[in-house]
Order: sequence, then structure tokens, then C-alpha cells
Amino acid sequence: MRLPSILSFSLLLPLLSVSRGQRSPCDLCDLYMSCDCSRRGFSTVPMVTQRAVTLDLSLNVIAAVTEDDLRGHIPLRVLNLHGNRIEVISCQAFATLEMLEDLDLSQNRLSTLNSTWFTKLGSLHTLNLLNNPYRVLGASLLKGVSMLRRLGIGGAAFQELRRGDLEGVTQLEELTLNANNLQSYEPGSLAYIWPLGRVLVNLSGPFLTQVGLAASLLRDVSYPETQLVLSDLILTTKQSVQPFSQTTSRRVRSIAFCNLSLSDDAIVNFLQVTDRAPLTSISIDDVILIGEGRWGKANLTEHSSMDEFLIRDGKLLDTFRFNALLELDFLLAYPRKLSLIGSKVFAMPCPTSRLLVNLQFLDLSDNLLTDMALQEALCGGDPAPATTTLRDLRVLNVTGNPLKSLSVLMGLVSKLSKLTHLDVSKTGYSSMPASCSWPSTLRHLNLSWAKLTHVGPCLPVSLEVLDLSHNDLQSLALTLPQLKELHLSGNKLLGLPAGWRFPNLLTLTIQSNTLNMLSGSDLRAYRRLQNLEAAHNKFVCTCDFVYLLQTLARGGGGGGGGGGGGGGGGGGGGGAAGKGNLRLSDGLESYVCDSPLHLQGQQVCAVSLGLADCHLVPFVSVMCGAVLVTGVGLAVLLGRLHAFWYVKMMWAWLRAKRSSASRRRRRREEGDASEPLFSYDAFVSYSERDTRWVEDFLVPELEEPREDPQHPAPLSLCLHKRDFLPGRWVVDNIMGAMETSRRTIFVLSEHFVRSDWCRHELHFSHLRLSDGRAGAEDDILVLLEPLSQEDIPKRFCRLRRLMGSNTYLEWPHEEELRRDFWRKLRRAVGRGDEE
Ligand SMILES: *[C@@H]1O[C@H](CO)[C@@H](O)[C@H](O)[C@H]1NC(C)=O
Ligand SMILES: *[C@@H]1O[C@H](CO)[C@@H](O)[C@H](O)[C@H]1NC(C)=O
Ligand SMILES: *[C@@H]1O[C@H](CO)[C@@H](O)[C@H](O)[C@H]1NC(C)=O
Ligand SMILES: *[C@@H]1O[C@H](CO)[C@@H](O)[C@H](O)[C@H]1NC(C)=O
Ligand SMILES: *[C@@H]1O[C@H](CO)[C@@H](O)[C@H](O)[C@H]1NC(C)=O
Ligand SMILES: *[C@@H]1O[C@H](CO)[C@@H](O)[C@H](O)[C@H]1NC(C)=O
Repeated sequence: MRLPSILSFSLLLPLLSVSRGQRSPCDLCDLYMSCDCSRRGFSTVPMVTQRAVTLDLSLNVIAAVTEDDLRGHIPLRVLNLHGNRIEVISCQAFATLEMLEDLDLSQNRLSTLNSTWFTKLGSLHTLNLLNNPYRVLGASLLKGVSMLRRLGIGGAAFQELRRGDLEGVTQLEELTLNANNLQSYEPGSLAYIWPLGRVLVNLSGPFLTQVGLAASLLRDVSYPETQLVLSDLILTTKQSVQPFSQTTSRRVRSIAFCNLSLSDDAIVNFLQVTDRAPLTSISIDDVILIGEGRWGKANLTEHSSMDEFLIRDGKLLDTFRFNALLELDFLLAYPRKLSLIGSKVFAMPCPTSRLLVNLQFLDLSDNLLTDMALQEALCGGDPAPATTTLRDLRVLNVTGNPLKSLSVLMGLVSKLSKLTHLDVSKTGYSSMPASCSWPSTLRHLNLSWAKLTHVGPCLPVSLEVLDLSHNDLQSLALTLPQLKELHLSGNKLLGLPAGWRFPNLLTLTIQSNTLNMLSGSDLRAYRRLQNLEAAHNKFVCTCDFVYLLQTLARGGGGGGGGGGGGGGGGGGGGGAAGKGNLRLSDGLESYVCDSPLHLQGQQVCAVSLGLADCHLVPFVSVMCGAVLVTGVGLAVLLGRLHAFWYVKMMWAWLRAKRSSASRRRRRREEGDASEPLFSYDAFVSYSERDTRWVEDFLVPELEEPREDPQHPAPLSLCLHKRDFLPGRWVVDNIMGAMETSRRTIFVLSEHFVRSDWCRHELHFSHLRLSDGRAGAEDDILVLLEPLSQEDIPKRFCRLRRLMGSNTYLEWPHEEELRRDFWRKLRRAVGRGDEE
């Protein structure tokens, strides 16, 4: 029973360890010991290396933080427990985190807070306790945390704030207070915190029901240099805006609202309450205007300090009744900056624009203005408006409007004699007019995200920043001597624009085009370029290119001229970066090769190219040269070895053999005996020069019949001159003659050795031998003149061998010896035997 017991033990082990509270590990830490254990479903604080500096445990389901969970995490600086289910935190849970600077406990289930958690957190800078279900903070909660600069408290359940709760917190950069449901506020509870940089308060409940409470709270956090951000307010009655008398008396200069509902009454009252207040900036995000824009009743108030006014995501409850703000001259005459962003503005009447006499900055982005509406807004129809309307305007932003005609825009802005910034991005502009007029002051022009297919020379030469990104440009022929920044990303450019056109350019972005190459010389043409962003193009990773980029990434290619090691310094790459202060601001990692195929998708920084890739032209030339030299050498060698001759012979023989084979087959089909029939006794192979000997001696001696009965029968000889069939291929003739002759007589002489045809004949006889049809005795050598073995070319090895073995007949010059010669020859030919 040993096995089952071990099994059951090992099965039990995990259960036991879980029941003992074994914590699961989390080792998702990066190089800087920042550990991201967020959204991993941990129900307890996981085991994390004690070297962790940042630990993100947000959005898990952790229910408690025990004493041991974070023990020993000495270097921990950031601990994020946002969005868990923490109900219990042990007193000593954070006791060892002496370096902790940032603690986020927001969005948990802490219903009571205990000051013992924070006593040891001497370095704590940021503490977020928002949105937990506690009702109160508890006295002196943060007494020991003297370094605290950012604090978030409150939540839906938060009801009470008392003096002393925030004892010890004396100065804050930012205080976030969710007090939508605050019931009780002891005046002065927040009054000791100063300086106070920014206060973000949700106070919807108090503003609706306990205006006094809201007023005293606002009073305690209002300082001239404090930025107030008030969220979730519903201001509909005269009463509801009364708390702002406190901000006025405390001389608050900047108020921002988020998620606001406003009625006409409330606005009028707000203007009255803030009469002569030093308020300089009002910004409202996400506002619903319930009224009709009738705010003229407040025309006796004064808001001369009002400088900046912003509405983003404004909605009108009743668009068609909304009045054109014409009565607001007392208000509109002051601001220098006006922004109406994303608020579906489709018209701004010229008379309203005329009221904006101080305006320098107008932002109407992301609205519904058409060319016509813009013409109205900028009083384009006025005969003599230039001197009065918007004459101080420096910045005009109409990005994200359905504008179509650049010439309309030019007609409008050319009158704005101080305009420096014009943002007309995200519009429907598709073409550029041939002639144009721009304000001579224009420095920044943003024409990005439009539909331009070409840009003529029609742009102001005064430009310093030009954004043409995300259009449909295929080329760019512009000369802008002052330009410092040029943005061309997201077009269809095939190459860099010529550098000489932009002699002062410092920054060039040309990502996501269709560039194939960046070359050193192209970049050098930009004499002052410092920042280049060109990733996400269709780069062909040649050596020069890879080398250039790697040099740039290493820090501007100061020593580029030397062509340092590695991938091999391409000629064009050297010193590419010119003065060496050009860098790739978008980082080499984002540069990817598109071709050649074997490098496709590889990061340029990871590419290393070999010799063959890098010096293709020299490499190929050397290779071709080598092949050529070898080829010529081989040809010479083969020529020396007479290979061509052999090949020629071989081919001739094969051809002849084929025809002779077919001849034989035909003969066999005709029922002939397999025994070869010889038409001649001997085929005589001789050189033309030796004809005389053959005709004078050989033929008479062997062929002519003699009276003398003792004399052997005449032989029949085959002579090419006499017996070859005219019109047949000569090789066929030779082969045929050899086949139909019993023997072959070679008449050897100097001439024979030099004669081509004779050599052929000798060769055929040689081949016939290897064909297995004939024996060496078929060939008879007759030496007309003394020839030594050395006189015979080496390739006639058989002849040489035959000569070496003395099996030849020598033509004697002495008459008396000739009888013997003829006898021997006859015998050799075969008929001599009968003698
Ligand atoms: C805080 O924790 C300590 C130790 O556990 C305990 O004695 C004390 O009562 C707690 N205080 C509050 C306000 O819960
Ligand atoms: C409180 O205000 C902040 C902005 O400061 C906002 O993001 C948040 O949604 C508000 N909270 C509640 C519960 O309304
Ligand atoms: C906006 O404020 C109202 C009450 O003033 C609140 O009910 C609503 O949740 C808030 N919206 C957001 C997005 O916070
Ligand atoms: C202010 O408004 C009232 C009524 O709305 C009007 O009668 C009055 O003339 C206006 N005063 C000025 C100075 O515009
Ligand atoms: C114009 O408005 C857009 C969106 O609000 C903003 O991103 C851009 O920076 C503004 N341009 C200028 C020149 O202020
Ligand atoms: C131009 O406008 C686009 C879109 O509004 C924006 O993203 C870009 O940053 C602007 N360019 C410059 C140089 O400000």
C-alpha cells in the first residue's frame, strides 16, 4: 500500500499549501524592476521579487493585505492596489516600505481607515484613497506623512469632513476630493493646507442641497494661485451659484468645470457674483447649456480681467432658440483667447466676431464650420473689415471642420496681418490654387490630414513649421528658405525632397511613405538637419543604407568617413551625417527592411550584411572575371589536348555508325547472312601526296593480273579517288569502305601524318577496333619513308604503339628487296596465304 499513500500525499500537498495561504508568484518584472501584475486575477498579494521598485497589482481581486505580504520590500517606491476588493489591511502591512512614494488604494472596499497604516511611510508623496466606502477619514489619519504632496480622498459614501482629519497635511500640489454626497463639513477642515496647487472637487450634492456647505468648503481651498476644478455641478438656480462669491472674495484666478449643466439664470448670476473678480481663465469641459443664451441681463457687470475662455464638448439643449451672443459685448471685449472646441458650432455670426476686439487666439476646432460659415465668422463679406475685425488675431485653429476650398481660406486670412499660426488640418482641402496670398507673418501652417494631391509653390515663404502629413502627396517641389520643421509622414513620397530647397531645416518627419532609400548624399543636402524620422517606409536594405542608418543611430556618424568594421563601409555611407549632429528621433528599432526578400521584416539594427551583399558590383565583376579566365584557360588547355578534334571525330563517327548500323539492319531484314561480305580486300588510306606511289607501285602490283600462273590472284583495293561514291558524305564513305574491306592499309609518311583525312581514317580504324569488330591485324602499316615514333602526334597512341612494336612494313628503296616487301604485304592482306 506504499504507492497509494504516496499518491494521496502528493495529491493532498497542493491543497495543504493553499490552505496554509501559499501565495502565487508573479515575476513579470522588467529591467527597471517595474513589476506589472495587473489584471491577473490574484486573490492575495502575489510573491514578487524583493528588489521590485514598482509593483502594479491593480484590477485584481485581492481582499486583504496582511502583515507578511509586503515584508522586506525595502526598495519599493510605487505600489498600486487600485480596483481590488480590499477590505482589510493589517496595521503593519506597509511598515517596511520606508522608501514608498506612491500608494494607490482607490476603488477598494475599505470602510474604515487606520492611521497606523501610514505611520512608517515617511517618503510617501502621493496617496490615493478615493472611492472606498468609508464615511469619515478619522482623526489625524495622515499625521506622520509629512512629505505628502498629492492626496485623493472621498467617495460615494463619504459624508463627513472634520477639523483635524487632515492634521499634518500642510501643503499639497494636488488635492482630489470626491464629496458629491458630503453631508457635513466643519469649516476650516481644509484651511491649513497651503500652498495648494490644484484642487479637483466633485460637489454635486452640496451645490444642489447644501449651498452653505459648498461655500465654506470652496472658501477653504481658494487661493489666487490655486487652480480650481469643479466636477459634476448642476447650476440651474440663482442660489446654486452663490458659493462662487467665496472664490471671488478669495481672488481665485482660474476655474475649470467638468461635467456641468448650466441654465441662463445661473450664468447671469454667475456673472453677477463674479463681477469685478480677478478671474482670468474659465474652462468648461463637457457642458450642457440649458438656456437660450440670453445673458445680457448681466450687462452691467465687469470682467475686464477675463483673458481665456474655453468650452470643449459643449452641447446646447435647444440649438435653434440659441441666441447669437450679440448682447455680450461687456463680456466678449476682453478675452485674448477663445476656444470653442468639439461643440458642433456651425455658425459664428460676423457681428459676434466683431465684439471680440481683443482676440489673439481663436480655436474653433472639431466643429461643423463650412467655407461659408468660416467666411461669415471671419467677416469675409465685409467691404472694409480689415481694420476692425479680429485684427490682432495671431493664432487661428479651424482643424477638423468640413472646409473645402483653400482659396476661400486664403482670401480670409490674408487680411489678418498678425497671423502667425494657422491650423487647417483634418479638413477636406484637396487642391491648392495656382496663385495665392498669405499673411506675410505666417510661421506655422498645419495642412495635415487633408486630401491634397499636390502642393504647388503656393505657400508663404515665411513659414518655419509646415505640416503636410497624411495627405496624398507624391512629390514636393517647394522652396522655403526659413523652414525649420517639415512634416511629411503618411504621404506617398518616393524619395526625400531635395535638401537645397530647405537650407534651414532642423526637423524632418517622413514616416509611412514609400521611400526605398535614404542616401548619404541626399541627407547631406540638408545642411542643418538634426532630427529625422523616417521609419515605416519600404526600405531596400542595401549595404549603404544599413550602414548609414546604423551610423546615424550610433550618434550621428561623426567618424563615418572611416567606414568602421561590421557590415562593411559602403562608399556612399561614409560621413553621411555631415556635421554629425543628425539623429533618428524615432529610434533605429522602428526601421524595418522591406526588401530584399531574405531581410523582409527584419529590423535594420539587427541586419548584418556580408561581403557579397555589400560589394555586389565588384563581387560580380571579380566572379565574372574569374569564370572568364577559367573558361579561356580551359579552352586553351582543351585545344592543346586536341579535345575539339576528338569531339569532332567522335561526333562524325557516331553519325557514320548510325547510318552504317541502319544499313546493316536493312541488310539483315533482307535476309542476308550475318557473315559480313567484303567487297574489297583492302582499303588504302593514303595522303594525296603519296598518290604517285599508290598508283605507280601498289595498285599495279596488287591489282593487275599477271600472265605468270605462279603469280597469286589479283587483289581488289578500295581507293578513295576511284571507289568512293560521289555525293556521299566523306566520313560515310570512309566508314563504308572500311566496313566492306577486309583490311586497311595505311600508307604512312610525313604527308600522311599531316593530312586531316588520313588522320580521320586512322582514327576510325581505331574506333572500329574498340567497336569489337576488328582485330589489330586488320590494319597494315606501310612506311614509305623512315618515320620515328616521335614524328607521330601523341594522340595517335595506337599508331605509335604499333610502330613501337615493329609490326609495320617498310618500303625498301633497293629494288631487290621489293619482292620480299610485296610478298609480305600480300600475306598481310590475307590472300598471300595461298601462295
Ligand atoms: C487601528 O488599528 C489598531 C491596531 O490594530 C487598533 O488598535 C485601532 O483601534 C484601529 N483604529 C481604528 C480607528 O480603527
Ligand atoms: C469626480 O470628478 C472627476 C474629475 O475630477 C471625475 O473624473 C469623476 O468621474 C467624478 N466622480 C464621480 C463619482 O462623479
Ligand atoms: C455628471 O454629473 C452628474 C451629476 O451632476 C452625475 O450624475 C454623472 O454621473 C456625471 N457624469 C460623469 C461622467 O461623471
Ligand atoms: C443692458 O441690458 C438691458 C436689458 O437687457 C438693456 O435695457 C440695457 O440697455 C443694456 N445696457 C447696456 C449698457 O447695454
Ligand atoms: C488646434 O486644435 C487642435 C485640437 O484641439 C490641437 O491639437 C492643435 O494643437 C491646435 N493647434 C494650435 C496651433 O493651437
Ligand atoms: C497638425 O495637426 C495635427 C492634427 O490636428 C496634429 O496631430 C499635429 O501635431 C499638428 N502638427 C503640428 C506641427 O503641430
